[in-house]
Amino acid sequence: MSEIKAPRFKLLEAETPLRRLTRLEERLDRRLLYVKRDDQMEIGMGGNKLRSLEFWLGAAIAESADIVLVAGGPMSNQCRLTAAAAAVAGLDCIVFHNAREHEESRRASFLNGLFGAQVRFLGPVDETRRAIMVEDAAAELRRQGRRPYVVGDAIIGALGYVAAAGELHRQSRELDHPIRHVVLPGSMGPTEAGFIFGNALQDDPFEIHLVSVEYGQADLAARIARIYGDLAAHTGLFVADLNNLPIHYHMDYLGPGYGEPTLASEEAILTLARTEGILLEHVYTAKTFAGFIDMALRGRFPAGEPACVIHTGGTASLFSQFHLFRQGITVAGQ
Ligand SMILES: Cc1ncc(COP(=O)(O)O)c(C=O)c1O
Repeated sequence: MSEIKAPRFKLLEAETPLRRLTRLEERLDRRLLYVKRDDQMEIGMGGNKLRSLEFWLGAAIAESADIVLVAGGPMSNQCRLTAAAAAVAGLDCIVFHNAREHEESRRASFLNGLFGAQVRFLGPVDETRRAIMVEDAAAELRRQGRRPYVVGDAIIGALGYVAAAGELHRQSRELDHPIRHVVLPGSMGPTEAGFIFGNALQDDPFEIHLVSVEYGQADLAARIARIYGDLAAHTGLFVADLNNLPIHYHMDYLGPGYGEPTLASEEAILTLARTEGILLEHVYTAKTFAGFIDMALRGRFPAGEPACVIHTGGTASLFSQFHLFRQGITVAGQ
């Protein structure tokens, strides 16, 4: 694969594990199921945003930034991992939450402070207002002689998953039966578009299944198309037309909406915990795994075609999600 030419600050020494889900295979009576453990990384409890942060911090350092700003909800994985990665890079960090400050939100955000970030609660503002408030804070810092970098550019963030697709292809080629299908969450777009782009650069691309956890299909597809096109322009790499790639959208696992649990997502959390000892959380990974399990059961992956789900992390937020379990946690076997 052609190498990505962009500033990169190395956060990850090792490839994340590709693991066969043998106990899940037994439970489902299906074979050749794998997980790519992007929740298993060296820093900050891991997760997809750490791959993006290699390029966001690369850009920040290339601009001689001395402080990074990041915004999200109190449970945001992007905030937590930015705080952790900034610590590793020796940069200051301010985390902005569009939420009221109270006991619960402080608790959900506690790891940010632990990693040394300054945490500011902006009140319950929408994302547009939040972005303006962050830009205002950046302008104020510049007036004070600081050099801030605002984390979150979708194209730069997507580069992390262009690289991840190459990593999974390398690991897959070492298997007796290389992976054919890859399942990942469909959300804001950078992770998915980056992976699709990186996959398109390979000789024998995977079939990609996106499980929407946030938007309707038209919205998700439009986000991906925009980032995919911008990635081609940004990297100068030649890739196939998006419309000619094997991408499947799965809208059946979203339920009532973003962050709203479904019975299937709750079931997926319990199943993975009790067959593989793997933790999922309600917002991103539980619905993605619910889709993966359902597709396996319904024969969406033909016999002999290995399928891999990407665990994008977020595990730290599970500890604030106890109240979302509707069935309660029962003793195994009950
Ligand atoms: C754990 C986890 N998985 C998936 C996603 C979705 O990634 P993207 O915003 O690139 O679509 C996020 C986004 O915050 C996340 O935290």
